[in-house]
Parts: sequence; structure tokens; C-alpha cells
Amino acid sequence: MYTTSRLKIAVLTLAVMTAGLAAAGELPNIVILATGGTIAGAQPTEGDPGYKSGSLSIDSLIAAAPGMDKLARFTGEQIASIGSQDMNDEVWLKLARRANQLLATPEVDGIVVTHGTDTLEETAYFLNLVIRSDKPVVLVGSMRPATSTSADGPLNLYNAVAVAADPGASGLGVLVVSNDDLFAAREIQKTNTTDLQTFISPNRGQLGEAYYGKAWYFWRPTTRHTTASEFSIDGVEALPRVDIVYAHENADGMMVKAAVAAGAKGIVLAGVGDGNATKPMVDALAAAAAKGVVVVRSTRVGSGIVRRNIEVNDDALGFVASLELNPQKARVLLRLALLKTQSPAEIQRVFNEY
Ligand code: DGL
Repeated sequence: MYTTSRLKIAVLTLAVMTAGLAAAGELPNIVILATGGTIAGAQPTEGDPGYKSGSLSIDSLIAAAPGMDKLARFTGEQIASIGSQDMNDEVWLKLARRANQLLATPEVDGIVVTHGTDTLEETAYFLNLVIRSDKPVVLVGSMRPATSTSADGPLNLYNAVAVAADPGASGLGVLVVSNDDLFAAREIQKTNTTDLQTFISPNRGQLGEAYYGKAWYFWRPTTRHTTASEFSIDGVEALPRVDIVYAHENADGMMVKAAVAAGAKGIVLAGVGDGNATKPMVDALAAAAAKGVVVVRSTRVGSGIVRRNIEVNDDALGFVASLELNPQKARVLLRLALLKTQSPAEIQRVFNEY
């Protein structure tokens, strides 16, 4: 078992040169920041479907992926040991700060973050907006615990290290490797509770592939990220509260009112269809917006674009349209935007650009 938040550094192997990703005589230096998740999960009894996330240390994860020493020189640090359902602002800020600190040194060529898959898409997008470097940052998880038959973690980690070590991954923003596929942080979405092929990018497609240590890139992100991002966590101790409210048949405005009463500075609507909701819910959102709470309309549908002023008059009600961002991604962007402004027009500009 591993102690939460305890920093542990394990310098593992000396570099061995092979053909491929590194310049002659040198391998890239990669730091693996571990946060827990199923990739570090252990079953109480082998073959048991139940398991505990974040049980294993970074050392054991690395030991389970033989051959990684031929891709890079690496060190591992334990940032947290949690199932990602418990991901929180404290770990986010610690992780982002440590990644920025490491990436600013010439000795570090790339970062891999091990993470549970439940909230991996949120952490990836948060890092995409606050990392200040063009160097590769790659998140990786697994769907099967490390002790399972056919555990998927070791090859996922191997491929993630290969991408982080690849200069071709520079400038693409934060990336995610899963089940041989490569995703842009803004586009990735978990879509299945247990399948290995859980991640997809419904609107823009996967960014590439990472296959047995070799990466292919199909397209480049065009929205702002990392070094082109205006967002910073320098001096930030707390992120504004933003709640997500879920629309459904016969919904009243109670959940919206509860969010306002709890002190939400922003509310994201997981709307039906094109970001719609019942009249009572829209009325409650309009009342919240009139009080200065920023309301962003997204959708529970899972793909597509929520555009302005289709069935809801955003101009009249002072709402923001999330465009391609699903509710959980819209929440991340809104929290960072609220550090700078509460103007719906300015926040719409942010959603247009990120
Ligand atoms: N609860 C999970 C988490 O850590 C397990 C799912 C996973 O990692 O695949 O996100």
C-alpha cells in the first residue's frame, strides 16, 4: 500500500540506446507523475472483479512495463494515490505546479501522468489550459487493475512514455494514450464503464495512435492550449465553485436554486438535445444569470455542438453556449475563466477560442 501524497522518487534504470525515438547516444528524460487510478489498482483476490484504485506505487507500475528503459531515462514521483473519482482541486494544483516546475528545467523532456480513467478527461483538459510548455505531457490510465489477467496498464504506460519521449508530440497540447489510441485533451471522453476501448473523441476524432512504442499523429489541435493559453494558476489557492445541473423530463428549477444557494459562481447546464431544458429550469437559470452567476449551456447528449440562440435566446438571457465542450469540460474552462472575469460576453469569447 502507498501513503497518500508522499513524494517518492525512484531512479530506475540507465539508458540503453536503441533505434528509434532518441538522438544518437542520448535518451530523453521523462518524469512519471503518479496519481493512482485503476492502472495502480490491485484486486484483493486474483481474478476478482472488485479492486481498490491507487493501491500500487509508481515503482511497481514501472517494473511491470519491461522495455521502457529503451525508450527513455525516467524518474517517478507519487503526487497522490487516489481513485480519480476523488480527484480534487488540491491534487490538480499540486500536479500542475509540479509539472510546470519540471518542464521549465532543461533536464526534463516530457511528462507522463498516471491517472484513473473516471475523471481523466477533466484533469487532461485542466492541464491543457494551465501547463506552460510545448514539451509533451501525456496522461495514461487503464481499465483493468494491475493484478488482473491481461492488465492493460503496462502497455498503455509503455506507449505513453514513448509519446512523451517523442519530439513529434511537442506543441500538441496535453495528450492521452489509451488502448493504442492517442487523444487530444480537449476532445477525449470516457464512454463505457468497463470496456478497454472506453475513450473516444466524438466531435473531432482521435488525434493519432500509439502502438508498441511508436506514435502516429493524424491532425493538430487548432484551439488554444498550453503556451498559447491565457490561464495561469500562479498564486491561485482555490478555484471558483461551478456546479453542473442535469436536465430531464419534468425538471423544475430546484437544482439550479440549490447551486446558487451553495455559492456557485457558475452553473453548467447538462441540457437535453442542443442544450435545452424545461421552462422552469431555464427560468431558474435566467434568474441565476440575472444575479451574476455565469450560466453555460452544454448538453448531456455526448457529442455535437451547442450553438448560441437556437432554441434558447442566449442574448436575451445572458447565457454562454459551450459549443463542443461536454458539461465536465465546460466546467473546467468556466472555473478558469471565472478567475479572470464574470462577463458572459467575455466568457463566450473564451469558449469560442478554447
Ligand atoms: N474509479 C476509477 C478511477 O480511478 C477506476 C477507473 C479507472 O481508473 O479506470 O478513476
